[in-house]
Formats: sequence, structure tokens, C-alpha cells
Amino acid sequence: MHLGGEWNTSPPTGEHVKRAHEVVDAALSLGINLFDHADIYTMGKSEQVFGQVLKERPGLRERILLQSKCGIRFADESAPGRYDFSQAHIEGSVDGILSRLGVEFLDLLLLHRPDPLMEPEEVAASFRRLKASGKVRHFGVSNMSAGQLKLLRAFCDEPLVVNQLEMSLEKIDWLDTGVHVNQAAGARSGFPEGTLEHCRLEHIQIQAWGPLAQGLYSGRSLEGQPESVRNTAALVGRLAEAKQTTREAIVLAWLMKHPAAIQPVIGSTDPRRIAACADAERIQLTREEWFSLYVSSRGARLP
Ligand SMILES: NC(=O)c1ccc[n+]([C@@H]2O[C@H](COP(=O)([O-])OP(=O)(O)OC[C@H]3O[C@@H](n4cnc5c(N)ncnc54)[C@H](OP(=O)(O)O)[C@@H]3O)[C@@H](O)[C@H]2O)c1
Repeated sequence: MHLGGEWNTSPPTGEHVKRAHEVVDAALSLGINLFDHADIYTMGKSEQVFGQVLKERPGLRERILLQSKCGIRFADESAPGRYDFSQAHIEGSVDGILSRLGVEFLDLLLLHRPDPLMEPEEVAASFRRLKASGKVRHFGVSNMSAGQLKLLRAFCDEPLVVNQLEMSLEKIDWLDTGVHVNQAAGARSGFPEGTLEHCRLEHIQIQAWGPLAQGLYSGRSLEGQPESVRNTAALVGRLAEAKQTTREAIVLAWLMKHPAAIQPVIGSTDPRRIAACADAERIQLTREEWFSLYVSSRGARLP
């Protein structure tokens, strides 16, 4: 999401392409081979610079999985920022994505955010055409509830294989919903109940966006942050030291310990930070450590 510079229409520079090469190198050297895009990221420039990287590296396309998203439209003269799952928009977006990336097909296409005007039959027809034409191999969604997934799936020929949701040690409503069942506090949680369970039952890969909480517990300034964040950042630091690893690895290992087999989608464009994330696979948190982090982030004991 952060490749290609600022979110504006100025063209990407050689510096942006160089950074993208470094990001790809860092990822591949650590065994990371799935790259998450969206048609809107830095207004198309993220895909554009990635396309340039692919062009300059024959053979790279075959080694990686490319995922992109569509369905969000920027504000323009006709309307404010909005969502659009119409056939024309989905299929037009895919053509734009493929052209910017300079590839024949996407491994995964996700619908970025639920469109309240979605006609599931229309989306299913678009998916059918995209599959038949070879432009997209698999389909998924992002930021959708179990109910929305079920509605769409009922019309699609093929399974929806991914749901990408915001989840991190900071964004913990996906856990709070589960622990506050039948409690007043549960009503305050924004996470749609049953979504995690539905994804697990239907083998829908849950991807976590924002998994590092933008560095909140791994070195970003804590100025003005509440006590719970400061305490949690300190706890992450202590665990990293004790386990001789990075703070990023602790933050990600915490997500990955959850039995839903959550796949973090890290957004760093800093090769050192990407490397700092990789140790997460090696780190095993005990149940006690996992709950200590969760309760610390909540800033309140469990019911
Ligand atoms: N589906 C959706 O609706 C949705 C929404 C948002 C994002 N996404 C996807 O999820 C990915 C990850 O999301 P994200 O980038 O928001 O989350 P993230 O991985 O939690 O955070 C990455 C961002 O935080 C910065 N950062 C990390 N550690 C830092 C530190 N110690 N100090 C200062 N800055 C630090 C990174 O900067 P550096 O580059 O300097 O490391 C980068 O800008 C995105 O790239 C995108 O692919 C999806």
C-alpha cells in the first residue's frame, strides 16, 4: 500500500522503483512470496512501480502470488468517495490492475470493502467472466462479515478463499467480541460476531491488515498514547529481549498463535523492518504470554 510514494497523481520516480526492488528482495529472501495490492493504493502507483519491478526481472512473476483488490472509488465530480461492485467497475478495475502490473492474470482478486448496493448475482457473473477469461484465478473479500460472505458465496460458482480484516494487538475487537458474549460490553465491539468462526469453518484464509499496528508496539513514538499502549509496548519489549528476537516478531507471533491461522499482511517498505518481522514464524508464545499481551492491550481484566 505504501509503494509508489504519495497518494497523488504525480508519476512514480526511479527512487520509488528502487525501493520496490528492495522490498521485493527483502521479502523473497525471507520466504515471503505473496504481495498484496489494490487498484487505489497511492492512486495506482503502487501497482505501477511493482509492474516495473516485474518487467525488470524476468521470471519473478512465476515465483510469486499477486493479490489485488477493487471496489473502492475515489471522490470525483459526480459523487463523494464510494464503493462500486457493479460489473463495469469490477471488470474495468481488473483490466487496469493487470495493465499497471503488466501481467496476464491475478492469483487473487479481493473485493475491498462491502458495497451496500451489491447485487450478488452481478458480482458472481463478473467473477465467472474473469475466471473464464483467465484474468483471475481465485476470489476473496476484505472487511466483510460472515453474513456478507454467506450472501455472496450463495451466488458464486467458486469458494471465496480470503477475508482480509484489520487485526492487531491494538485492534482487538475480533477477540473482545468472543469473550464478551452475553455481556453488555460485547455490544460495544464493532467486530461482527461469528465472522472468525465462519471463516474457519469454510476454510476462508483470514488475512490481517495493519498487523504491526503501524509500529505502535515496536518503536513508534508513544507520545500521547494511553497507559495501556505504553504498558503493552514495554511488555512486547521485555518478551523480545527474553526470547532474543525483535518486537515486530512478538507482535506478529501474538496474532499467529491464534488457532484461526491468521496470515499477517505487513505494510512495511523498510527492508530492515521486513526482516525484523520474519522471526515471527520461529517464536512460540506461551498461553500465559499471549493472554498477558491481550489483557495489557485491553487495559482491563477479562470478564
Ligand atoms: N483491506 C484493507 O482494507 C486494507 C487497509 C489497509 C491496509 N491494507 C493492506 O495491509 C497492509 C498492511 O497495512 P498497514 O501498512 O496499515 O499496517 P502495518 O503493517 O501495521 O504498518 C506498516 C506501516 O507502519 C510503519 N511502521 C511500522 N513499524 C514502524 C515503526 N517502528 N516506526 C515507524 N513506522 C513504522 C511502516 O513504515 P515503514 O515502511 O517505514 O516500515 C508502514 O508505513 C497494507 O500494505 C495493505 O496491503 C488493507
